[in-house]
Amino acid sequence: MDKFIIQGGATLRGEITISGAKNSALPILAATLLVDGPSTLANVPNLADIRAQLDLLGDLGCDTRRDENGVLTAEVTSTDNSWATYDRVRKMRASISVLGPLLARRGYARVSMPGGCAIGSRPVDLHLRGLEALGAKIELDNGDIIASCDKLRGTEIFLGGAFGSTVLGTMNVLSAATLAEGTTVIESAACEPEVVDLVTYLNACGAKISGAGSPRITIEGVERLTGCDHTVIPDRIEAGTFLIAAAATKSDDLLIQNIHLRDMMALVDKLREVGIVVVPENNGTAARVVVPGEILPTDITTQPHPGFPTDVQAQMMVLLSLANGNSVLTEKIFPDRFLHVPELLRMGANIRKEGPTSIITGVDQLIGAPVMASDLRASAALVIAGLVARGETTIRRVYHIDRGYEHIETKLAACGATIRREKE
Ligand code: EPZ
Repeated sequence: MDKFIIQGGATLRGEITISGAKNSALPILAATLLVDGPSTLANVPNLADIRAQLDLLGDLGCDTRRDENGVLTAEVTSTDNSWATYDRVRKMRASISVLGPLLARRGYARVSMPGGCAIGSRPVDLHLRGLEALGAKIELDNGDIIASCDKLRGTEIFLGGAFGSTVLGTMNVLSAATLAEGTTVIESAACEPEVVDLVTYLNACGAKISGAGSPRITIEGVERLTGCDHTVIPDRIEAGTFLIAAAATKSDDLLIQNIHLRDMMALVDKLREVGIVVVPENNGTAARVVVPGEILPTDITTQPHPGFPTDVQAQMMVLLSLANGNSVLTEKIFPDRFLHVPELLRMGANIRKEGPTSIITGVDQLIGAPVMASDLRASAALVIAGLVARGETTIRRVYHIDRGYEHIETKLAACGATIRREKE
């Protein structure tokens, strides 16, 4: 296992180019199981989670290869195996995204129930309810979901749950509905930009989907879909992570490029509220921050898009740990998503967790310490904390970070951070 060694205190300067969105590439790769013929996908990031999805697609008869420019081609050449095994799914729960495409294209899918993970139990009841509404028969056997159908039929589906909409649930159901007989309406659909990107890909393959990005998505079933070319959108969570890192390190001369700032307005709003000037460049496809004075406290509640993203909650907590006053951060999507708190306390932060809410009392400075990465975004938060802390921070188990950030230490070191990777 690898670890990061970070010397805090550096100001970052130069340019960071954001990679393609992991949470868009994963469901789009799954959706290639729906289509006949090859699809070429550009801007697919080279991440551990993507490699895991490509391995799973290989099991399921979808051949994938990257050319010298990193453009990925995917084409189904065999439909003999439709079983996503526990061994595959336990390593990456987004593997559940193959369920809808397999069921719709082959009439059968066996997908291991994803377990929980560091941020909480990750139920899939809404996915299954949506697929059953389309006419699928769903059984559970030995920890696997077994879904089967003759032909899916369009219907009206309410997909909201206790925590609001479901991103992968919306993607599974809308993907399956593309080949159903008749029209499907999904009410309380997820509005994330990654849902829109998946629909852009599917429509380019011949699907007839409207309303993506709104809570009501309409899908008119078609006979078949054929492969197409698609470029994955930039990763708004990676972009948000680096904007927060720039703010925390008061790096006024760091350009974050290849972004869609319009997809990040909830975070931009909160950064401005705490005193950070966010400066859009190149029509919102790049941005930098200016930190004119002290960081101000604020209150944040995570919400489904377009609300404040849960995936930058941990990173924002680091910035609020340095604010001049008390902030309140409430996690409405994954109420237990606070594994970063004990590690930040080791670095001198003053945070009190009360159920799904953390009260953050700003301190003058964080102090470097050995800390442990836990989930993907909490680990990115620890990198930001290490960048601003006094002294040295060692972050163990950085494989968590490699799941969602392409060479984060290389990108940061190129901008002046003192960070290196070492074998444990
Ligand atoms: C996606 O997960 C993202 N992952 C997550 O990013 C992200 O945190 C999450 O959406 C919320 O934005 C990918 O896209 C691969 P949900 P997903 O279904 O779709 C509950 C990262 O760091 N729920 O929108 O699995 C669920 O427990 C990852 O990149 C049900 O109750 O999340 C949660 O409380 C972490 N029943 C809420 O809904 C269901 O059937 C939102 O979950 C499904 C979800």
